[in-house]
Amino acid sequence: MPPSTESLSVAPRALLLAVLLASRCVCALHVQQMFASQSETNNFVVDAVSHRVYLAAVNAIYQLNGTLAAEVSNSTGPVQDNVLCHAPQLPQAPCEHTKSLTDNHNKLLALDREQGVLVACGSVYQGFCELRRMDNVSQIAVEFPKPNATVFPSMLNIVANHPNASTVGLVFRSQGGTPRLLVAATYTGLGTEYFPKNHSKEDLRFENTPEIAIRSLNTKDLARLFTYDINPSEDNVFKIKQEVKPKHKLSFVRVFAQKSYSYIAMNNDANSGFKESQPNSILARICLDTDAPRRQASEGRKLTESYIQMGLQCGASGNIYNRLVSIFPADIDVQGHPDAEPYLFGVFAKSNRKSALCAFRVAEIEETIRQGRRNCSNGPNGDVQVLDSVIQGSGAECEAKGNIVLQQEQLNCGAAHLQHPLALRKPIRAEPLYEASGISSVAVDNIHNYTVVFLGTSNGRLRKALWLVLWLR
Ligand SMILES: *[C@@H]1O[C@H](CO)[C@@H](O)[C@H](O)[C@H]1NC(C)=O
Ligand SMILES: *[C@@H]1O[C@H](CO)[C@@H](O)[C@H](O)[C@H]1NC(C)=O
Ligand SMILES: *[C@@H]1O[C@H](CO)[C@@H](O)[C@H](O)[C@H]1NC(C)=O
Ligand SMILES: *[C@@H]1O[C@H](CO)[C@@H](O)[C@H](O)[C@H]1NC(C)=O
Ligand SMILES: *[C@@H]1O[C@H](CO)[C@@H](O)[C@H](O)[C@H]1NC(C)=O
Ligand SMILES: *[C@@H]1O[C@H](CO)[C@@H](O)[C@H](O)[C@H]1NC(C)=O
Ligand SMILES: *[C@@H]1O[C@H](CO)[C@@H](O)[C@H](O)[C@H]1NC(C)=O
Ligand SMILES: *[C@@H]1O[C@H](CO)[C@@H](O)[C@H](O)[C@H]1NC(C)=O
Repeated sequence: MPPSTESLSVAPRALLLAVLLASRCVCALHVQQMFASQSETNNFVVDAVSHRVYLAAVNAIYQLNGTLAAEVSNSTGPVQDNVLCHAPQLPQAPCEHTKSLTDNHNKLLALDREQGVLVACGSVYQGFCELRRMDNVSQIAVEFPKPNATVFPSMLNIVANHPNASTVGLVFRSQGGTPRLLVAATYTGLGTEYFPKNHSKEDLRFENTPEIAIRSLNTKDLARLFTYDINPSEDNVFKIKQEVKPKHKLSFVRVFAQKSYSYIAMNNDANSGFKESQPNSILARICLDTDAPRRQASEGRKLTESYIQMGLQCGASGNIYNRLVSIFPADIDVQGHPDAEPYLFGVFAKSNRKSALCAFRVAEIEETIRQGRRNCSNGPNGDVQVLDSVIQGSGAECEAKGNIVLQQEQLNCGAAHLQHPLALRKPIRAEPLYEASGISSVAVDNIHNYTVVFLGTSNGRLRKALWLVLWLR
């Protein structure tokens, strides 16, 4: 259903009203259960079926039951490591650099219930992933790599190999139910703040770490586990060209699936500091091919074929909160709409710690993407460009396709004749719904027909529970 201009303008105002009404309510949250980790915690996931909580911290991983009692705990570090050495899992890769005890920060934790595994990836060993058993995380579910198996660095260098470099990821099913792992990670090689300056020749990240990759997660095909050499070969990566990496320091905030798309929310930190007036936040979308095959099974879609990105702007000119710190997709009830409407709630911050909550309507994002592709197929124009910072975008530009009329599916996901990663020039804009200092996370839930927005602060406490009372029925 195409968005009507009326609902576009009504929704934000109604939200704003709701915040004002609700901010008078002082709401107490009670801690029901608690689990204290001995080290800094990095990530957690909850299994919706067993209600187990998997918690990953520095050098430890925990499996907790539904009331947060520890069932299993396992140490994951520190280990002997050096950022200049290949992972010890790589055969015939001795390293002359001295290794020392290195903390293992968890960078990615994801459940694959169907295969019964917990994907746990740490910062050591070049960002290596393990598959642990969901019913007992101290046991490795799948030995990888197998002794004497052929292994390439690209199968081992999966997440960021530095505590402060971002990584986000997602498990999904591709055509025919094949398990896949989507990973987006900050580049940490030569020339970045994460790489030792005086070791230019030892950059192991250079060829082996795309910023975004779709990897095989099929435990029945161990020879290809974690490779991105899946159909179509080599094209399941998004790699910023080496010479423009300093201008594209991508820091990933979150990746989430919605319909058959995956959204990737990030900031370009190369712009931070000197351009406070410009939004640095980017929302990218790719198509996951989760639907019934539209093409031959052997002919999957390339990651960059459907890739399209746009800026996310929270605030108006002169008062822009330019850095995205947290984003949460939620379906909320909107007056006049029979079904819940998907929105993206984002917390954005300025360098002075001032922060704001903005909400973006997903239908507007979807329609803007279709417009962008249509515009690109009409020839060169100022509103949309081929993303030429990416290897797969080289040399291409928007060109008129004669009188071809693009189908909805092609407008959404690209097509063989429209297969380059695209960037929209104008950001999607939203007005702040709420402004405060130091908000660093957002989550949204529907409780008894009320949409409740939880805002957390950077000291780790959920300090504010802000009730957005939306469109009371
Ligand atoms: C979790 O384990 C504790 C201690 O064994 C037990 O008392 C509690 O009932 C368990 N909770 C669930 C949801 O199984
Ligand atoms: C988990 O596996 C470890 C190692 O095999 C074992 O010692 C432990 O008892 C198991 N824990 C549970 C709760 O099954
Ligand atoms: C953690 O798990 C691994 C893999 O199962 C095991 O080899 C190791 O002994 C465990 N360590 C501790 C401290 O439980
Ligand atoms: C791996 O290769 C080594 C040397 O070629 C051999 O000694 C060893 O038995 C092999 N291991 C396995 C599990 O095949
Ligand atoms: C990570 O960032 C923090 C805060 O900026 C800094 O104190 C710390 O030294 C950094 N860690 C590493 C390993 O560089
Ligand atoms: C590299 O730089 C570090 C810190 O600046 C220094 O401690 C180290 O000795 C240098 N290594 C070499 C091989 O020059
Ligand atoms: C597409 O082109 C139309 C007409 O020039 C313009 O109004 C619109 O903003 C463009 N949208 C995008 C997303 O490029
Ligand atoms: C929520 O709304 C639905 C549909 O209007 C209604 O059937 C249901 O009773 C409401 N639930 C609560 C807890 O108010």
